[in-house]
Amino acid sequence: MKVVTLLNEKGGVGKTTVATHLAAGLAIKGYRVLLVDADPQGHATVMYGLAKEPGLYDLLVRNAPYQRVLRPISPEVYEIPDQPVRGKLYLIPSNVETRNIANSINNILVFRDKFMPLEGAIDIVIVDTSPTPSMLHGSVALVTDGIIIPTLCEMLAFDGVRESLLHRDSFVNKKQELGLGGVELFGIVPTRYKHKTLEHTEMLQQLVDAFGDTVWKPLYDRIIWSEAARAYRPTFSYAPDSQAARDAWTLVDRAEEALSNVPS
Ligand SMILES: Nc1ncnc2c1ncn2[C@@H]1O[C@H](COP(=O)(O)OP(=O)(O)O)[C@@H](O)[C@H]1O
Ligand SMILES: [Mg+2]
Repeated sequence: MKVVTLLNEKGGVGKTTVATHLAAGLAIKGYRVLLVDADPQGHATVMYGLAKEPGLYDLLVRNAPYQRVLRPISPEVYEIPDQPVRGKLYLIPSNVETRNIANSINNILVFRDKFMPLEGAIDIVIVDTSPTPSMLHGSVALVTDGIIIPTLCEMLAFDGVRESLLHRDSFVNKKQELGLGGVELFGIVPTRYKHKTLEHTEMLQQLVDAFGDTVWKPLYDRIIWSEAARAYRPTFSYAPDSQAARDAWTLVDRAEEALSNVPS
């Protein structure tokens, strides 16, 4: 089981969009995927048309068995026409109670303890996080193999990238102290990229100058992304022939490659 966490201390940068597309795309490709909604806003939960509920809170704080909090997502919600879904997709939903998790846990290893039993049943866990760092983020970090940082290509957005990287450094130290291995930076994903604007092209260049190959191919700003979200579908299901769908697949392929390089 490998764990990917979406991080950025700014909101509206595409964390949930990337998380939900990775989860669906990897499930289509044949993986058993668990998407964990760790944001009290519950947007990943809503994205799949599910009701917000305290799934993660129940699991981590009320000691509910994960069989009770895991929600299978029907392939109808994310499949591509004429292509069978080869894997499975589950979600642990969230609601405002997720905000109280950080104050209710006193064991930073809680996330690890709760997710260990899924080893063997799930191939990939994707964690969508909230912008505000908390002890929950720390607990998630201790099981994370790789992080993905979506960012806008705007001046102030880079602050979020820097902050997230600083946090990663503290995670790495803590994780290594506990003998749990490292946390890799899988990639920085420029989202809502407008290639015709000087600001975006210049900022993308700056990102590439600073982080080189770690910067993944940008997801272009396209109305389809929010249209698909309103229809509770990923872009490749909602508009399979669109540029947005092609961008989403490029993202899924790159994540799959990064995951394959993590020693199991
Ligand atoms: N490439 C894109 N083009 C246009 N809109 C996008 C794109 N990616 C995301 N969005 C929209 O931007 C908004 C914020 O994205 P979201 O994933 O919720 O960000 P976060 O989880 O970081 O707060 C959503 O309405 C989403 O549909
Ligand atoms: Mg979000």
